Amino acid sequence: MKVLIVGSGGREHAIATSVAKSPKVDKIYCAPGNAGIGMIAECVPIGAMEFDKIVAFAKENAIDLTIVGMDDPLVGGLIDELEKEGLRAFGPRKNAAILEGSKAFSKDLMKKYNIPTAAYENFDNADDAIKYLETAEYPIVLKADGLALGKGVLICNDFEEAKEGVKSIMLDKQFGTAGNRMVIEEFMTGREVSVLSYVDGKTIKTMTSAQDHKRAMDGDQGLNTGGMGTFSPSPFYTEEVDEFCKKYIYQATVDAMAAEGREFKGIIFFGLMLTPKGPRVLEYNARFGDPEAQVVLPRMKNDIIEVMEACIDGKLDEVDLQFEDNAAVCVVLASEGYPVKYDKGLEIKGLETFEGKDGYYCFHAGTKEENGKIVTNGGRVLGITAKGADLKEARANAYAATEWIDFDNKYMRHDIGKAIDEA
Ligand code: AMP
Ligand code: GLY
Repeated sequence: MKVLIVGSGGREHAIATSVAKSPKVDKIYCAPGNAGIGMIAECVPIGAMEFDKIVAFAKENAIDLTIVGMDDPLVGGLIDELEKEGLRAFGPRKNAAILEGSKAFSKDLMKKYNIPTAAYENFDNADDAIKYLETAEYPIVLKADGLALGKGVLICNDFEEAKEGVKSIMLDKQFGTAGNRMVIEEFMTGREVSVLSYVDGKTIKTMTSAQDHKRAMDGDQGLNTGGMGTFSPSPFYTEEVDEFCKKYIYQATVDAMAAEGREFKGIIFFGLMLTPKGPRVLEYNARFGDPEAQVVLPRMKNDIIEVMEACIDGKLDEVDLQFEDNAAVCVVLASEGYPVKYDKGLEIKGLETFEGKDGYYCFHAGTKEENGKIVTNGGRVLGITAKGADLKEARANAYAATEWIDFDNKYMRHDIGKAIDEA
């Protein structure tokens, strides 16, 4: 089989690593990929939003399966474009990817189908939003409706802050057209857990849980990032929590999408908050998380191609999804200054140390090859993942492996998985 993966981050490297393990696969392409993906796949210089070129490439090269890892092309309808040409593709169609593409849509869906989430109102003009905020309770949460690189959420402590927030989202368009509408919702407290799942339109099978660390600095300080590290499983995702979510959230979401005529096939990522009143949905994503994929996929026992094909064919009920009974931790090595301003093009040394080391993974995010050397090419550079018998061992292994790598400006958080100690 020939497989094409669309994307270029650590998540896509993790997907490619799993795909490469499948005995069904002869050849992997990645558009556009990165230096690490290039070691197991042929990278082709096509951007993830260049739909015409992706479709043409898939046709010309007789690609058997295209896997779309990123949110933008999914929300933009890349799966539909591929399917129009009779090509097989893994991911939700445009009318289902709206689950991630519009927060107002997802909130309305949850309300209509009684799926537990924060109380909210949607707004399409700034005056109404500000009027609502005059009598609201604080803190309160403002969310740009559309995709905003995970940065479109503002937590505001008082009316003045919230008013400025509405202005920046809706009038100054800080997040572009994503801010044409917005959601204002109740502030919740609790631990956050990410649960990713495979969905075939009817059946849903959840993967092992994970937790991300979104802020740039230790102690959850600093700016929001794409994610600075993850661990899996989450010790806070207990059987009781799982039971609640199975009863009120997972299948309910899949059924709700089907009932709306928006059959969802692909990955649903449930961003959950374990509040004192029980689990609540914070957000949905329509794809693997980054860097959640980097701790979840290495622990999956199944052939990823078999699972993805079962999703496409509506046969997920026949799959016995299994995960290893261990743990994994991923520490992101970033460039100092991320997410604001950072240098690129710095040589990365020590990558070869990972070769042949079972249970250790060096997933590339922002890297490229230049004159035979691998150099930094982004804010998040590498995701260092290690497994262990338990979370503590996995964390120790992952941090030990971060020392194998060296580049100028290397920056990481030192408290990834610290919450494990409180469990
Ligand atoms: P989202 O992109 O919706 O996941 O939001 C990004 C982050 O903002 C989440 O991971 C939470 O830490 C925080 N957040 C979002 N919604 C709420 C809420 N209703 N209450 C408290 N924190 C929230
Ligand atoms: N790590 C969060 C996300 O992928 O959205």
